Amino acid sequence: MSKKVVITGGNRGVGFALVSKFLAEGFLVMVTTRTGEIAIQHPNLEVVQLDVTSAASIHTAVSEIKEKFKTINFLINNAGVGLDLDQNHPEIDVVKATFETNVFGLLNFTESCLDLIVDGGTIYNISSVMGMLNRDKIVPNATAYRMSKSALNMYTKTLSARLEVRNISVNSIHPGWVKTDMGGDDADITPEFSAQRIFELYLKKLPTGTFWAAENQIQLNW
Ligand SMILES: NC(=O)c1ccc[n+]([C@@H]2O[C@H](COP(=O)([O-])OP(=O)(O)OC[C@H]3O[C@@H](n4cnc5c(N)ncnc54)[C@H](OP(=O)(O)O)[C@@H]3O)[C@@H](O)[C@H]2O)c1
Repeated sequence: MSKKVVITGGNRGVGFALVSKFLAEGFLVMVTTRTGEIAIQHPNLEVVQLDVTSAASIHTAVSEIKEKFKTINFLINNAGVGLDLDQNHPEIDVVKATFETNVFGLLNFTESCLDLIVDGGTIYNISSVMGMLNRDKIVPNATAYRMSKSALNMYTKTLSARLEVRNISVNSIHPGWVKTDMGGDDADITPEFSAQRIFELYLKKLPTGTFWAAENQIQLNW
């Protein structure tokens, strides 16, 4: 039987490439988008409307996922914002808005999906090396974005410990510097290559509670 993957924020960028990749690999794909629409059609593709900052939207989306999929093998929390990537001075409203999506929204959606995820399943939180604490030198930009990805990484760690009893693996994944609206045109790799490498990580069955760079398939030290 085909495995079922839920991918958030799949209408563009890395998420869209992940949708195409998992369809090509024979998965049943449930993609979430803020409009409830996506530019492609496929017999194995379902689309559901989801804004992770809205509790009501999460509630409706999870009900729909339950109705259509019953269970989830793999949840990829890809949706995210980079609101201050070009800013050196944090503005509190920007910090709050960033956390609403990258941390609180992601956590709320994930917690609402936990009953649907099968024992032995997988959760990938798409994080970033920009959230790493273990770096000698940090460029002083993107305070909100960096803090949000650090917080997300701690969620990965605590959730992985909590879900060990169900053998659910939880990982943070850095997708690479990717040519998307967020990554910009100067980025290193295409969304398709990033999705390919994320899929290869999935095949490796990563140890739970670990952080990986997709592009070169190496483990990161948080
Ligand atoms: N690109 C890079 O170089 C890079 C590097 C490291 C990590 N990442 C991470 O990789 C992930 C994907 O990045 P990307 O470059 O593909 O970004 P992107 O092109 O800007 O796409 C972001 C996606 O997230 C969705 N989204 C934003 N806010 C949302 C919300 N409140 N509820 C639901 N969906 C929401 C967007 O939907 P709309 O279209 O409706 O806005 C869009 O589908 C992000 O978590 C990002 O932090 C990216």
